[in-house]
Amino acid sequence: GTAQIGVTGLAVMGRNLARNFARNGFTVAVHNRTAAKTRALVEEFGSEGTFVPAESAEEFVAALERPRRLVIMVKAGDPTDAVIQEFAPLLEEGDVIIDGGNAHFADTRRREKELRERGIHFVGTGISGGEEGALHGPSIMPGGSAESYASLGPMFEKIAAKAPDGTPCVTHVGPDGAGHFVKMVHNGIEYADMQLIAEAYHLLRAVAGYSPAQIAETFRTWNTGRLDSYLIEITAEVLAHTDAATAKPFVDVVADQAEQKGTGRWTVQIALDLGVPVSGIAEAVFARSLSGHAPLREASRSLPGPAARPLGEDDAGRFADQVEQALYASKIVSYTQGFHQIQAGGDAYDWGIDLGSVAAIWRAGCIIRAAFLDRIREAYDAQHDLPSLLSDKQFAEEIGAAQDDWREVISAAARHGVPTPGFSAALAYYDALRAERLPAALTQAQRDFFGAHTYRRTDREGSFHTLWGGDRSEVRTD
Ligand code: 6PG
Repeated sequence: GTAQIGVTGLAVMGRNLARNFARNGFTVAVHNRTAAKTRALVEEFGSEGTFVPAESAEEFVAALERPRRLVIMVKAGDPTDAVIQEFAPLLEEGDVIIDGGNAHFADTRRREKELRERGIHFVGTGISGGEEGALHGPSIMPGGSAESYASLGPMFEKIAAKAPDGTPCVTHVGPDGAGHFVKMVHNGIEYADMQLIAEAYHLLRAVAGYSPAQIAETFRTWNTGRLDSYLIEITAEVLAHTDAATAKPFVDVVADQAEQKGTGRWTVQIALDLGVPVSGIAEAVFARSLSGHAPLREASRSLPGPAARPLGEDDAGRFADQVEQALYASKIVSYTQGFHQIQAGGDAYDWGIDLGSVAAIWRAGCIIRAAFLDRIREAYDAQHDLPSLLSDKQFAEEIGAAQDDWREVISAAARHGVPTPGFSAALAYYDALRAERLPAALTQAQRDFFGAHTYRRTDREGSFHTLWGGDRSEVRTD
């Protein structure tokens, strides 16, 4: 075979990824379950580079130079296993299968292990950036063996997005499922970012009394500062858009029920298993599910709350500035939580993930790309074992400078009856981390009372139990 890489699964992501490889000078074998899509790709985009269309699995495998590099771009779950079952028997030792879908990292670990035993490299690869990213340069998060990365890395570097300093947004994240794990947390952070932006919008609408067009303007301004990011940019676009059919703001004609395909939920499920408090991401997932409970919301509509009374023009401007502070502070917290989860996952699975590199490859191409990520990279590059992003001096200073406004925004939200689960959870996390003493002491004492679960003391080593049902004397239990 002559093709340096093959792509099977030519829905929009696979098609655009194949085109990206071809546009960068690689010979690309293309294959799809239904051959019509393969033909259509070559017909429409054949002039962009060198494609080798293959109708059958055998033809596809034969088109690839050895060691074969085969990217599968199909729906995560059973379809991925089916494609692996189809191709693996046709492959030889040293060949590489790359799964570019949004697979669960546990599936990736299982597949990697099975294929490794057959001498085949399996590289679970997070690819972010949607259709546009796949074509013009995504952020790429490959796992799998270091050996497979040696040959894949240079190819990925060519097709990946480039950070403002020119660095390609790809790195070998770590072995087996590390790439898909990091992509999962990327999506969790994506959910949190989107929820925080939605809360800022809601506050500007309900408390400041701004129109969607005015809010679009506000977001545009924010996008020139420290909040500069793809998600803020597209938020301004969406809010400025008018529905053609009704001439109403587009955001007012979209049903207010947010769906999810699962990566945000996985992030929270895994965080619970790892014992990492990702409350901001969890609230974002819950906010989507709450929005979808139509009958519950209908039944609750008449519950009492404060009457709508937007601020006057002068106060509104000041409030908008405070919302920017609250949004920025909450964003620092959700990234703090997300990076904590990556650190914990990396430790639990022994992946050796470098957090600075993760921040670096999220600077361009992916959905959460933002100027902010370069700051995170700097923080981790300066101190590899930074206990938390909040222990970085600059982030600590910024959040400290924002905290007064952050608190005022959340109290205004409560007074006006605007839900801010993301902002509030972020502030609670911040205050809990700051606290000299937490009421966890009381929780632990209760556990000892009803279940003899024991406790440790602040003044002495050891574990203890109080004889609550008896004379309330204390016994040492270790
Ligand atoms: C990306 C995105 C993408 C994800 C969508 C939809 O990085 O390009 O994260 O992978 O599938 O954002 O996610 P939900 O349907 O769960 O909102």
